[in-house]
Amino acid sequence: MAHQWRGVIREYFDRLDVDSNTKIITLGEGGTPLVAAPALAQLVGAEEVYLKVEGMNPTGSFKDRGMTMAVSKAVTHGAKAVICASTGNTSASAAAYAAAAGIQSVVLVPKGKIALGKLAQAVAHKAQILQVKGNFDDCLDLARDLAENYAVHLVNSVNPDRIEGQKTGAFEVVEFLDRAPDIHVLPVGNAGNYSAYFKGYKEDVQAGRIKHIPQMWGYQADGSAPFVYGTPVKNPDTIATAIRIGNPASYDLALAAREESQGRFGAVKDPDILWMHRFLSQEVGVFVEPSSATGAAGLLQASRAGDNLAGKTIVVTVTGNGLKDAAWALKDERGKEIKPQIVSNRAKEVAERLGLA
Ligand code: F0G
Repeated sequence: MAHQWRGVIREYFDRLDVDSNTKIITLGEGGTPLVAAPALAQLVGAEEVYLKVEGMNPTGSFKDRGMTMAVSKAVTHGAKAVICASTGNTSASAAAYAAAAGIQSVVLVPKGKIALGKLAQAVAHKAQILQVKGNFDDCLDLARDLAENYAVHLVNSVNPDRIEGQKTGAFEVVEFLDRAPDIHVLPVGNAGNYSAYFKGYKEDVQAGRIKHIPQMWGYQADGSAPFVYGTPVKNPDTIATAIRIGNPASYDLALAAREESQGRFGAVKDPDILWMHRFLSQEVGVFVEPSSATGAAGLLQASRAGDNLAGKTIVVTVTGNGLKDAAWALKDERGKEIKPQIVSNRAKEVAERLGLA
């Protein structure tokens, strides 16, 4: 039988905090493609740019790498229910893995601020969904409070099992390139993923697989950029709802990662995020959700501001699938709705409309 990818816990068993007693709950996450993006490399003046396409995970985002760990651990410890706060992707993932484990999931989301596709996923997987009158940060406070006082297991990235699972993204990059990239770029909300990639690269250095940790570049939306302003943002505001987070859970971990990797944080304006969202679809062929374009938008901003990327190998994690938040693709640059033309079934007319005749 041909080899089938077995999910990150089985593929990286010896490099994760698991043992033979761990009850593995997997949907086959990880093993996502590293896609060369020559159009983006040319745009930013780099030697090579690759996209780590995390939208290819079972629930369409990188969260699955951490969720397989968090739910496996929860079930191993006898949990009957998991809880999370979410801007959408964590809840979709928690709901799916809880379904696979045969346990209940509870998700707290900011009212009116999560993409429709993600809400549909949580509903489909039968999560108990509560829309909280507040933002993500309020939801996380609430989830922590409930997990501390009631019989529900917290699966947000404040749970170290999540970071542990997500570090496998870095392992895959190193295996594919057979070296570390010079720069690794990510969109940042809670900074759990930023911290997780750093951890993965650091372990690869310690194991002698690579010689150095790439510079870790993290980008936020400028209405929601606590790392750039150096202080929590009370009312975070951006169209990139996945990263609309004012008080990042992994703040200290990420600051340490930036320091040690000689990396940086930056902020990108919403229109620049949307521009890159379109560029990735149209010029690279990879359809991501708007938030996921924030890293690449930051890379372009750096290049335009004078960073010389010549000769550099750069990996950009694109975190979630475009289908989750598809409405953005159906708007043009000015925000006007795009409606495909309606035609008859006559070839001559269609050819004329297409400019073929
Ligand atoms: N990109 C996407 C598509 C996300 O959903 C998230 C986070 C991030 C980037 C940022 O990752 O928080 O580790 O820095 N989404 C979380 C959620 C908050 O609830 O789905 P981070």
